[in-house]
Amino acid sequence: MQADLLVINGLLWTGEPETPAREGWAIAAKAGRIIFTGPAVDAPSAARTIDCSGRLVTPGLVDCHTHIVHAGNRANEWRMRLEGASYEEVARAGGGIVSTVKAVRAASEDELVRQSLPRLDALIGEGATTVEIKSGYGLDAENEAKMLRAARRLGQLRPVTIRTTHLGAHAMPPGATDKDAYIADVIERQLPLAHREGSADAVDAFTEGIAFSVGQTRRVFAAAKALGLPVKIHAEQLSNLGGAAMAAGEFAALSADHIEYLDEAGIAAMRAAGTVAVLLPGAFYFIKEKQKPPVAALRAAGVPIAVATDCNPGSSPLTSLLLAINMACTLFGLTPEEALAGVTRNGANALGLGSECGTLGSGKWCDLAIWEVAEPAELAYRIGFNPLWKRVWRGNA
Ligand code: NIG
Ligand code: FE
Repeated sequence: MQADLLVINGLLWTGEPETPAREGWAIAAKAGRIIFTGPAVDAPSAARTIDCSGRLVTPGLVDCHTHIVHAGNRANEWRMRLEGASYEEVARAGGGIVSTVKAVRAASEDELVRQSLPRLDALIGEGATTVEIKSGYGLDAENEAKMLRAARRLGQLRPVTIRTTHLGAHAMPPGATDKDAYIADVIERQLPLAHREGSADAVDAFTEGIAFSVGQTRRVFAAAKALGLPVKIHAEQLSNLGGAAMAAGEFAALSADHIEYLDEAGIAAMRAAGTVAVLLPGAFYFIKEKQKPPVAALRAAGVPIAVATDCNPGSSPLTSLLLAINMACTLFGLTPEEALAGVTRNGANALGLGSECGTLGSGKWCDLAIWEVAEPAELAYRIGFNPLWKRVWRGNA
């Protein structure tokens, strides 16, 4: 069969478990999907060829946890934190998420797209081909829907796969005090509107003392389930409430994210449900968290580990997946290959896209990143350097 695209002379890191980088292999694609990965001598002919001249070829990167759609920034709050205030103190003093909510509500959908596009471009410029984007700064039905529409539009403006996540249960809206009443609004108004508009691929919640309880999160997830939407959770970031165990055990959550304070019960529930552990070293670094996620226990249990930027204006103003994997190695002790699997195969699994992307297997979207480096570890090694040579999205360079 004639292919559309043939990628030759690369050092292929396919992202499959326990598979070393291979020389002399080629990839062929047709209609945006990989139809062949194997020794170059067996490859089909193609209309177009990319000669990698020995460069490293990896799956296109997946950022499975971002809040890139937002307005304004919180540099002032960062200054307060540098002077000694904690992330929680800033939030309780009326700063934090709520200040971004005010900026997002004041911004039009066009304005959100305009302000968010440079962040998406930064991720794409480092080889990202799939990016998840959460709402969570609108905190009412119309403003959450506006954020999700802006996220979908970003995917029409650039060659990238966007997956959207409704995060109405992120924080209490300004002025509101009754958490149960707000959760009722998420369930009765916000999720139904997003679902009607088809603008949410998944539902997330922030389960934490400064946000929502396990019981409140459970109600949101039950509503998501009723709408046929998978769930993800911000859990065990600042304390251990047992959110990850609930999300995995009761809802087979796609992922539990942050999880610095995750315990053995949470790990066991995640393993049983196949829930991905998403590590967010940018947030750990930026809020100067001391408690590290239980990497050794996750590894021992065989829980898949992903790494993401958590790009957001308050706790992780990070738009570099390469820096995220560098931090995951340096701060959390991942191996370079584990970190790379975290932004490819396991990132895709955290989005329920494991059958579409994240590895270079036959049948997957032909999403590639081709790097000016000699081995996979070099991608996680440099700090603030971008060796991307070429990026292919759905078979198009
Ligand atoms: O993933 N943990 C909660 N939510 C975000 C922070 C959002 C913000 O501070 O604006 C996070 O870290
Ligand atoms: Fe987050």
